[in-house]
Amino acid sequence: MFQVQYISSHWRRISIFPVNMFNPWLALLLASSSAAAQQIPLSFQATNSEWTVFHHPIKSVAVIGAGPAGLQAAAKLIEHNFTVRLFDRAPSPGGNWFYTDETPVREPYPDKPFDEKPYIPENLPATHYYEDGEEGLSLEDRWKEHWQPRPVWDSLHTNSPAVITELPDVPYSADKPWVLSNHDIQRHVRAYASFHNLNANDYPTNSRHAPVTSYSTRVEELLKIESTQTWRLTLRKLERLSETNRIKAQWWTEDFDAVVIATGPYVSPHVPDIAGLLEWSKVKDGDQYSVYHSQSYRRPERYQNKTILVVGSSVSASEISRDIAPYASNIIASIRPHEDLHPFKLRSLLRFPSVTAFVPEIDHFEPLAAQDKGIKDGAIHLINGSVLRGIDEVILATGYIHSNIFLPNFTSDGQPANLHWTGHYIPDPTLAYTNVRPWTIGKYQSYAFAKVWEGTAHLPTQKQMREDYDNGKYHFRGLFASAPAEALFRQYVAWLNNESLINGGRFVEPWPLEKREVFVYYSDVEWIKGYTSLANFTDFEVLPSREWNSDKAAWEAMVYEDLQW
Ligand SMILES: Cc1cc2nc3c(=O)[nH]c(=O)nc-3n(C[C@H](O)[C@H](O)[C@H](O)COP(=O)(O)OP(=O)(O)OC[C@H]3O[C@@H](n4cnc5c(N)ncnc54)[C@H](O)[C@@H]3O)c2cc1C
Ligand SMILES: NC(=O)c1ccc[n+]([C@@H]2O[C@H](COP(=O)([O-])OP(=O)(O)OC[C@H]3O[C@@H](n4cnc5c(N)ncnc54)[C@H](OP(=O)(O)O)[C@@H]3O)[C@@H](O)[C@H]2O)c1
Ligand SMILES: *[C@@H]1O[C@H](CO)[C@@H](O)[C@H](O)[C@H]1NC(C)=O
Ligand SMILES: *[C@@H]1O[C@H](CO)[C@@H](O)[C@H](O)[C@H]1NC(C)=O
Ligand SMILES: *[C@@H]1O[C@H](CO)[C@@H](O)[C@H](O)[C@H]1NC(C)=O
Ligand SMILES: *[C@@H]1O[C@H](CO)[C@@H](O)[C@H](O)[C@H]1NC(C)=O
Ligand SMILES: *[C@@H]1O[C@H](CO)[C@@H](O)[C@H](O)[C@H]1NC(C)=O
Ligand SMILES: *[C@@H]1O[C@H](CO)[C@@H](O)[C@H](O)[C@H]1NC(C)=O
Repeated sequence: MFQVQYISSHWRRISIFPVNMFNPWLALLLASSSAAAQQIPLSFQATNSEWTVFHHPIKSVAVIGAGPAGLQAAAKLIEHNFTVRLFDRAPSPGGNWFYTDETPVREPYPDKPFDEKPYIPENLPATHYYEDGEEGLSLEDRWKEHWQPRPVWDSLHTNSPAVITELPDVPYSADKPWVLSNHDIQRHVRAYASFHNLNANDYPTNSRHAPVTSYSTRVEELLKIESTQTWRLTLRKLERLSETNRIKAQWWTEDFDAVVIATGPYVSPHVPDIAGLLEWSKVKDGDQYSVYHSQSYRRPERYQNKTILVVGSSVSASEISRDIAPYASNIIASIRPHEDLHPFKLRSLLRFPSVTAFVPEIDHFEPLAAQDKGIKDGAIHLINGSVLRGIDEVILATGYIHSNIFLPNFTSDGQPANLHWTGHYIPDPTLAYTNVRPWTIGKYQSYAFAKVWEGTAHLPTQKQMREDYDNGKYHFRGLFASAPAEALFRQYVAWLNNESLINGGRFVEPWPLEKREVFVYYSDVEWIKGYTSLANFTDFEVLPSREWNSDKAAWEAMVYEDLQW
């Protein structure tokens, strides 16, 4: 009844269809089920010249980071029978959304070199018991330095609608609003982790397997071992021993065939390089610093009757200003003008509370006489020559940098670089990066990781990936529900399904149309009126240029800028 057609003698591209009854979808399904069950018997010789071939079969994978990206990757890789280990420096899953009242250790002034290596004992495994005050660090600070409490505040709500801020398997109830609180999100991510047995207290029901997760475990180093072509992770786990008032630290290594880096898009706070800021950063008013980064912001009450200078004009700046507006006596925002306003920036500017006084960029902070009497008497010189006085506190809402300790060439200009559009690292595709922009892309990305590493999807040759990358053809980016992004997204789905057709595996469905519609409505209402329009969501084949030009640019920019969610 079936006929196997060899379209090409050197490529395993086949189509299987019922004679006289051609039905491509039936063919897809048939190909998928037969391929999953057994290897398709083909007289086919694989050669390295057509796609990337790995040194040895990929069996074990380390996932670094248990946020929305790492959890999805770990769950999918487990489903595909890889031996998975999931590491996170935090004591619980959630990533950015593991909210606590604890604030992070104060940000360094100026920024720390982004490739600064942590201390690793010479002989591993190693154990050490930290006492309070050792090396000038309290146990509290040592604990926080290790896991880095998150940069979210109590009242924070998403600036992305629920339809794109949702994980698979644990859908929100139908009556959930489109904009969710950070607490809702935290529960949602935890539910996903629990659903997949990836929560902090989840031990395998089958004791033959080692536990998958290791929380409070920071990856300190990542090395490729040349002889075995495997990745060696150096790990450090901290444990609080409250009975003896000490912290137990353990260092050890584990080796893997492949690694997913899901350490998040916002790894370290960024403080700007402004003259005099270093001195001002040391100033305290009582026991509190007068200048700090927005990562430490939690609640508005203590801003009662204060004059606050917020530096920055992006989301943290506008949203924190809104939060403190009912309390503060004055809010001043120092912003840099931009000729071409990115829609996200425009949205933020529009969302500053109406009481905000906007001033230009800061030129320098004038030296202060004392370091323990606050900054109220200090002078802040703006680039237009004006001087600000009487400021009680400065909040630096100046963003984050993607510091990366792992690989020398993994980041460029603070952003991950050299990635194939699937997320695989071009120089060595046994490594992959994901930061799920938006979250709903994670399902496809993690499936692509599993398929490539199990051999049911092929990456092009390195030469081809490099060429594509250099041509900007398939730059790694978040895939979004707007026309050009949808075109890319369709290519993604088509690629996955084409690979399944050829090499086996399940098929995936594109993102549901009704969710895309909700996203469009949300964008129009929440961002800028007319920002997106359904009419403009039909032109899938046209990929507009990266040029920024007024009206049209609004919806294009959502796609082509590195999305600043
Ligand atoms: C203030 C703020 C508000 C935001 N609001 C939104 C929003 O409304 N909507 C939206 O879609 N996005 C928002 N984001 C973006 C947010 O980054 C994503 O929603 C999402 O958390 C990204 O998921 P991720 O898994 O890639 O990274 P993360 O959630 O950041 O998780 C990364 C994980 O990696 C771990 N990790 C890092 N380094 C190591 C290491 N060396 N060893 C072990 N573990 C490590 C971290 O502990 C962390 O748990 C916001 C970000 C910030 C900072
Ligand atoms: N859900 C929420 O409500 C929420 C809240 C906060 C953050 N977030 C997300 O978290 C991410 C980070 O946001 P973010 O606002 O913290 O960082 P960000 O978007 O990177 O913005 C950093 C801001 O700092 C400004 N800046 C940097 N150096 C400066 C200087 N020397 N002088 C003046 N301004 C300076 C930048 O100005 P320029 O524009 O001039 O470069 C920019 O406005 C984003 O993805 C955002 O969507 C979401
Ligand atoms: C994983 O292994 C199980 C048990 O052998 C098998 O039934 C299942 O098909 C495998 N999953 C994948 C995606 O290969
Ligand atoms: C803030 O100012 C108001 C009005 O002057 C005053 O009633 C209130 O007590 C002040 N609050 C604090 C915390 O200083
Ligand atoms: C500098 O800018 C601020 C805010 O726009 C304005 O109030 C002030 O007058 C300006 N100073 C000078 C010297 O132009
Ligand atoms: C990093 O990039 C530089 C310049 O492109 C190159 O010379 C160097 O070999 C790379 N290092 C690694 C470890 O890949
Ligand atoms: C499917 O994969 C083959 C082999 O890489 C390629 O030639 C073909 O163009 C692909 N088809 C689609 C629709 O992507
Ligand atoms: C939709 O596309 C048309 C044609 O490019 C353009 O004129 C119009 O401004 C777009 N509308 C929006 C809201 O972007």
